[in-house]
Amino acid sequence: MLTTAKIDEIRTRVREWRQKGETVAFVPTMGNLHQGHVSLILEAARRADHVVASIFVNPLQFGKNEDLDAYPRTLGADQQKLTEAGCELLFTPTPELIYPKGLDAQTFVEVPGISDELCGASRPGHFRGVATIVCKLFNIVQPDIALFGRKDYQQLLVIKTMVSDLSLPIEVIGVETVREDSGLALSSRNGYLTEAEKALAPKLKAAMDKLAEAIVLGQDIDQAISDTKEFLRAAGLEPDYLEVREASSLKPVSSDDKSLVILAAAYLGKARLIDNMTLSR
Ligand code: PAJ
Repeated sequence: MLTTAKIDEIRTRVREWRQKGETVAFVPTMGNLHQGHVSLILEAARRADHVVASIFVNPLQFGKNEDLDAYPRTLGADQQKLTEAGCELLFTPTPELIYPKGLDAQTFVEVPGISDELCGASRPGHFRGVATIVCKLFNIVQPDIALFGRKDYQQLLVIKTMVSDLSLPIEVIGVETVREDSGLALSSRNGYLTEAEKALAPKLKAAMDKLAEAIVLGQDIDQAISDTKEFLRAAGLEPDYLEVREASSLKPVSSDDKSLVILAAAYLGKARLIDNMTLSR
């Protein structure tokens, strides 16, 4: 696998492949890779002739009091995982290359509506940072397809909306969440959990299972949500939000909606865990 911080080198390689009629898949990441990221690379390799990944801890999507400086950087181990999973080209730009004028003078990509609620309400500007970097990376790599985890359900919808609204010629594919046996969704931020917190973290998935069951049984959704929040608090997690929305639009549920998604975020010590679950009723 070739690792480069140069835009030209990425463009030259990808152009050579595309001129031969070969397809290119792209997987953007912030590094500190785990099996969730690896599953995206494996799926990318199944769907395209070549796989390109990026590792860039994007300052534009972190709030002022968030963990930008503490975010784990593990390039050597990441390169090994990417190579083993079939990635051929890795882009590792510096912040100076991506934002040469600084963050305040940067042109933004803003996806209205869905960017401002749920995780966007707790993290103002987060999805503007995500949409901007993903749009920039798409323009640098120019892939045929790009793969994102369904673990970050709202992020996946923000990116799909951006691609559609801006007519970007890229197919966006969502890949199933990889979990530990306990049910806990893998996340680079799980490393912030102490051993004791790690034992509690699977309660988030357990809470969503409980809520899903209540919804499928036809119970009142608002009541089921408030019961599930109590269950979380009793387990030692502080819910940030726990909501049920229509699955494809994230609009509030109306009585004839069949495809729903439970979206959850909860604080556990220093970590903020997020997860989601789709269901039909
Ligand atoms: P990061 O958190 O590194 O995640 C990179 C990709 O891995 C995202 O598409 C995310 O949804 C996916 N992912 C994370 N955990 C997963 C899991 N347990 N199972 C399956 N997929 C999982 O998301 C970002 O980086 C950034 O916001 C980025 C899109 C790179 C823009 O900076």
